Amino acid sequence: MALHTDKISVETSETSKIDTVDFNNLDFGRVFTDHMFVCDYEDGKWQNPKVMPYQAMTFDPSARVFHYGQAVFEGMKAYKDDEGKVFLFRPKLNFERINKSSARLAMPAFPEDYFFEGLEILLKLDNDWIKPGVGNSLYLRPFVIATEPAISASPANSYRFMIICSPAKSYYNSAVRVLIADHYSRSANGGVGAAKAAGNYAAQFYPTSLALERGFQQVVWTDADSHTLLEEAGTMNVFFRVNDKLITAPTSDRILDGVTRKSIIQLAEDLGITCDVRPVSVAEIKEAAKDGSLKEIFGAGTAAVISPISAFQHQDELFEISGVDAVDSYAKLFKQALLNIQHNLSDDKHGWRYEVK
Ligand code: COI
Repeated sequence: MALHTDKISVETSETSKIDTVDFNNLDFGRVFTDHMFVCDYEDGKWQNPKVMPYQAMTFDPSARVFHYGQAVFEGMKAYKDDEGKVFLFRPKLNFERINKSSARLAMPAFPEDYFFEGLEILLKLDNDWIKPGVGNSLYLRPFVIATEPAISASPANSYRFMIICSPAKSYYNSAVRVLIADHYSRSANGGVGAAKAAGNYAAQFYPTSLALERGFQQVVWTDADSHTLLEEAGTMNVFFRVNDKLITAPTSDRILDGVTRKSIIQLAEDLGITCDVRPVSVAEIKEAAKDGSLKEIFGAGTAAVISPISAFQHQDELFEISGVDAVDSYAKLFKQALLNIQHNLSDDKHGWRYEVK
């Protein structure tokens, strides 16, 4: 059992960049706070954990991450209520998932105490970067990369775990139009689709850029075998509302087990809305769009929160979804319910809020 007994050392930044930031005009993920958390894995154990000023780092060009993509990450958010209390949302799920992702890429598990203590120190130092008010959050990006300078194709012996933080508003500024994949695939049976592996995102960039050229911001991925089952949108899991029922695909080794997805399924149960978790076919959603029973499609993810989808294209058929702006849309209902819990504005009957004291 690897020991991890080092205390987290703290070096604070002498100056702050905060006054240079326009918090009302934030482009997702471009501005970072004053501090970051860093911990290295060497000689079979995680060691030398430290919170330090945010800065560029130097890596050997042969570091394995650059050659074999041994890299995983998480997406989390910190929220502040009107009294200045700071909360995370179900952070244990992110902690568990990063280690699951690491295991799939033959990377070592990160210790829970370092994960939470590092986060808490960081959030205390960068507290002013967390703005109160629904719609504001501090996006937290834990990640692990293989740092060993060696290019034989095998798992590294050294790694770096880091957390960086970026103030965030919305990821998508308006409803998203999506293209349903019928050629490219995001993941395969037995592959790494369920892991938050950096390469899963890189693999989407080219097909997504082709979709963008056609006016679609995201691809909704389908199963790699037949392209007949709807899976996820890469930055979001996807929900379909047919009449008053929700449908979403089950997680598998091809689909990310999203924290927001899981929370919506629970909220639906709380609200008495049926949510079927089962394979969803492209054919049934097209059929529902044609007969008028498809009321909504929305994506769900930490960065995206809940993003309505206003249109989808499959092969040569385009479907516009009319209910996107309806005041009683499920997307609005679930988004509000989630934000209220996250910002300490409503009861938290499932204990999802985690106060950072
Ligand atoms: C998140 O929602 O946190 C994600 O990791 C998606 C990312 C591509 C922005």
